[in-house]
Amino acid sequence: MIKVAVTGALGRMGSLVIEEIKKSGDMELVAGFDIRGAGKPLLGDVHVSEAIDLEKVLTRIRPDVLIDFTSASAAVGTVTSAAETGVNLVVGTTGFSEGQLDQMKRAINGHVAAVISPNFSIGVNVFWRLLAEAATTLKDYDIEVIEAHHNQKKDAPSGTALAAVDVLKNATGITQVVHGRKGMTLRGKEIGVHAVRAGDIVGDHTVLFAGPGERLEIKHQAHSRSAFASGAVRAARWVVKANPGVYNMSDVLG
Ligand SMILES: NC(=O)c1ccc[n+]([C@@H]2O[C@H](COP(=O)([O-])OP(=O)(O)OC[C@H]3O[C@@H](n4cnc5c(N)ncnc54)[C@H](O)[C@@H]3O)[C@@H](O)[C@H]2O)c1
Repeated sequence: MIKVAVTGALGRMGSLVIEEIKKSGDMELVAGFDIRGAGKPLLGDVHVSEAIDLEKVLTRIRPDVLIDFTSASAAVGTVTSAAETGVNLVVGTTGFSEGQLDQMKRAINGHVAAVISPNFSIGVNVFWRLLAEAATTLKDYDIEVIEAHHNQKKDAPSGTALAAVDVLKNATGITQVVHGRKGMTLRGKEIGVHAVRAGDIVGDHTVLFAGPGERLEIKHQAHSRSAFASGAVRAARWVVKANPGVYNMSDVLG
């Protein structure tokens, strides 16, 4: 059995990850951490541990992998503690600055294996590949990225949209990114990015390529967070066999 710990265990994603572990047959939950609800039952005889006890509990329990869905500021410390304790990682949290990402990569490299992805759904990973193909041919078209999420999401634009922008920049050579528009502004050679926050939308991403007389839209819509949770569990199964280093979901999907 693969021994799994989860941080953000009581959150929207963390609780679904625990559901997936329960269904898996080859994994067992050995610890769950949160900053609220200490002592609440999670699965089997595992109860919520206080986030502050992370290092102590990891050292005692020695999980094979820790899955993190918390917040960017919390995840940096979690990743550092897990890497120092020799626990492999799956990081689904989004909203990291470049500095935070570098700090995590420095903690991971040479110590443990980690899959870091702003989106663990299989469909989104295909969406990124399709974007690269479309943008290579349509580099002279106007390109706009439009994402929509529920009204509780803290970071904007989404990590998935930012990853899409990176793909588009690499394929087109465009460097200028414009976040929303207001006032008298003419469109330049740029990628436009727009974030909608409303209701309980799980996660929509559309990339629009518009040229003379036509437009192409590539769109992904998540219907349920279970698409992300099952992908994260799949990444956990993969990462426990990987050599130390930082990986993304394309490595997992081959
Ligand atoms: N990669 C993906 O596929 C994917 C999919 C959905 C959401 N996300 C990202 O995952 C993150 C969490 O999303 P959510 O919707 O589950 O949020 P949420 O607010 O429902 O859950 C976050 C949980 O983390 C807990 N937490 C905060 N600090 C902690 C700490 N130091 N230690 C342990 N627990 C801590 C909170 O109390 C909360 O229960 C966000 O960054 C979101 O953008 C990623």
